[in-house]
Amino acid sequence: MFVPHSAAGAMLAAALAAFVGLPAAHAQADASRGQTLYEAHCSACHDRSVHGRAVRTARTFEQVREQVVRWQREVGVAWQAEDVDAVTIYLNQRYYRFPCPTTVCAAPRASVPPASAPR
Ligand code: HEC
Repeated sequence: MFVPHSAAGAMLAAALAAFVGLPAAHAQADASRGQTLYEAHCSACHDRSVHGRAVRTARTFEQVREQVVRWQREVGVAWQAEDVDAVTIYLNQRYYRFPCPTTVCAAPRASVPPASAPR
């Protein structure tokens, strides 16, 4: 069955964000969109247990993303890169808590100046 999830998901996520008054922070918006996508397409087979199990496949943010790429292909939803990022950010924030590369998540403390190096 084909579900035009992207537009509907984006609209739902926007509506949800407006409803709960989430901060406009990029990663947070992505996480709620990712949650919507994940719950629509992925949670039928596995709940939190697969992401929290002791011997899990993903050991870095990139590996979580690889699994998301693999599983969206398996499910046949043809997600765009930003959908994959959104779901990865969601899963990472909720379960894995690996450091998120700044290319995907905005740098959390980008304005903190680096400590001056000793000469
Ligand atoms: C057909 C059932 C099924 C569906 C649908 C499914 N998964 Fe999975 N998923 C599994 C099983 C079973 C495993 C564990 C076995 C494995 O790693 O091969 C798994 C493992 C994973 C893992 C790795 C967990 C770890 O060990 O760290 C991720 C991440 C994941 N799935 C994401 C997704 C996402 C995202 C979707 C939706 C696009 C999805 N899955 C849809 C069955 C499913």
